[in-house]
Amino acid sequence: MTTASAPGKVILFGEHAVVSGVPALGSAIDLRATVSVVDLPGRVEIDASNLRLMVTGFTVDPLAECIHTVGSSRDALLATRYISAVLKELRAGDLRVTVESRIPPAAGLGSSAAIVVATLAALNEHLGLKMSRIEIGSEAYRIEKLVQQGLGSPMDTALSTFGGYQLVSDKIQARKLPELRLVVGYTERAHDTRTEVAKVQSLRQSYPEVVAPIFQAIGAISKRALELLEEGRLEELGALMNVNHGLLEALGVGTRELSELVYAARGAGGAMGAKLTGAGGGGCMIALPKEGGEAEIATAIRQARGRTFAVKTGCEGVRLEG
Ligand code: PMV
Repeated sequence: MTTASAPGKVILFGEHAVVSGVPALGSAIDLRATVSVVDLPGRVEIDASNLRLMVTGFTVDPLAECIHTVGSSRDALLATRYISAVLKELRAGDLRVTVESRIPPAAGLGSSAAIVVATLAALNEHLGLKMSRIEIGSEAYRIEKLVQQGLGSPMDTALSTFGGYQLVSDKIQARKLPELRLVVGYTERAHDTRTEVAKVQSLRQSYPEVVAPIFQAIGAISKRALELLEEGRLEELGALMNVNHGLLEALGVGTRELSELVYAARGAGGAMGAKLTGAGGGGCMIALPKEGGEAEIATAIRQARGRTFAVKTGCEGVRLEG
């Protein structure tokens, strides 16, 4: 058996603007997806039975593009789509692939990228493909986009592959920055990245003179945030999170539920700043806690009917396990 794991991510600053090449800063987090492969002569199986809500397993024949499901959850189906795309691209067969993930799917935390990257890394080792880490990253980006059939930046797949912090624009640059503890608030509403990206890009086409300056302001925030993080100026970093959230609201990707969690976190007094993270339209927000402010933020988020958990930033990228 060969096992690999890859991290989820948060986008600290710059989502949506990055699709148009404006710098965005993201970080790998300490929630991971784990994928194992074993030989299974004569057939292909994908076992996603460990994903939330999953009641029974199902099998997939990616080469025949045929999925047999019995009482499967939406989460498991999503994972299966990505894994079968990887198997198909690599023309891999005679295998059982098992996935487990602690990253909520369709929540803006990079769950699909982590599954694609971990699957590629496990297959790379198991089949002796000798892909470099850079090749795994670019192949993962290609496959993720193939499945999502939309516009998108390499942010998620780069973070999942290389870990740490990545500044993504028209290129990807790793940045050495100190670890942060963040409180995540999850609306428990799945979002569709493709729809949100298309919405923002269409706004940009209709009103370029309005949207271009918003993107420019978001890019300026990402760049300033780098300096602030390097120098540990977290109060100021929090203030920029609030500004970035406002700009994302202006682009139309906020929702009532997301805003309720953002304002609950800020109102609790424990947060230096809070913003939605990822594509918006549902999914998650992040809050930057003051020293000792985590519990207060978590309570406020729960009272606003969000699910909440703490994450660490700057975590390790894809790795082989065991
Ligand atoms: O994968 P999500 O839902 O976290 O969104 C990614 C962020 C976007 O900038 C909206 C899209 C992209 O590909 O960069």
